[in-house]
Amino acid sequence: MELWRGLVNRCSLKQLFVTCLLCGIVFVATYHMKCGVPLMNRELVLERDVMDARYLPSVNCSSFHQEFQVDERKRFPTAIIIGVKKGGTRALLTMLELHPSVVTAHHEVHYFDYDENFQKGVESYIDQMPVSKPGQITIEKSPHYFVTDVVPQRMRMVSQNLKLILIVKDPVTRLISDFTQLDAKKVVNKREKRPSFEEAVLQRDGSVNTNYIPVQVSNYAVHLTKWLKYFPLSQILILDGDNFVANPYEELLKVQTFLQIKPFYTRSQFVFSDVKGFYCWKMNIQQEPKCLGDKKGRTHPTVSENVKQKLKQYYQSSNEQFYKLAQQKFNW
Ligand code: A3P
Repeated sequence: MELWRGLVNRCSLKQLFVTCLLCGIVFVATYHMKCGVPLMNRELVLERDVMDARYLPSVNCSSFHQEFQVDERKRFPTAIIIGVKKGGTRALLTMLELHPSVVTAHHEVHYFDYDENFQKGVESYIDQMPVSKPGQITIEKSPHYFVTDVVPQRMRMVSQNLKLILIVKDPVTRLISDFTQLDAKKVVNKREKRPSFEEAVLQRDGSVNTNYIPVQVSNYAVHLTKWLKYFPLSQILILDGDNFVANPYEELLKVQTFLQIKPFYTRSQFVFSDVKGFYCWKMNIQQEPKCLGDKKGRTHPTVSENVKQKLKQYYQSSNEQFYKLAQQKFNW
């Protein structure tokens, strides 16, 4: 206290003000040169680190960013949920978003599968991502990616290090779910022709209608083969969508490990809702559980065992091939 009083007596307010101002300028200049200004692209920041680091006082950039939160910006995704449609992709993305190290794009971006989007360039893609802080990873999901031939090559061209997440379900269950969604859309659009499930998936002679797109989507081996031409299996996490319905916590732990993010999920965060018929989730014990809306967890049509068996048989060889490619066995 005595020291402080002496200092104030000896220095004028003006001198103190100038000193503080100089300190501030040194602080900001050091930060900018060492850590890069917000929105500066990463390559430039790295280049500056290499060039100038020797001449600058030691600065911990990540703690700077965290404390002052100056580097909040939209970033290219670290991971993409590539599919499969009706595999549980929305529930997965929503539950991943609970994790403090994850931010997610809420809508399906369709950058790599729609030509007109891809042609707009990667900046337009990044622009659709949510803002993230340093240390957080960005995830988007567009299930149509998995079945679109051109996507693996495009993704690889844009980023070699992407982590891909694929959530698959029993192909027959997925097919029924896909049909249910398409049928529900027809009800909304009041389109007249609404074939039954059997009419849609079987031909008149009783064989499987391989021209029906939802039948093709469940042919996982065909699609995975294309992805493995461009990405090693180690970069693709394949989740069990049936187990995800029954036990979301278990599948989320796999994602946590794959993405190398800090342990966060607890079993008690997930609560089965008798009303919804699915697991819902909560951030903390006090919070009421939240569930997905009416468009997820629709009532499926009753399908005869005979038709189910026919479809199961149809998918059998494709499934075996998929297990080999995925180096993982499923219960289909
Ligand atoms: P159904 O609506 O046919 O039951 P996607 O989001 O990829 O379209 O997948 C939708 C499917 O997610 C749903 O299909 C449902 O089976 C599955 N799902 C998994 N976990 C869920 C959850 N917690 N709440 C609702 N649906 C869930």
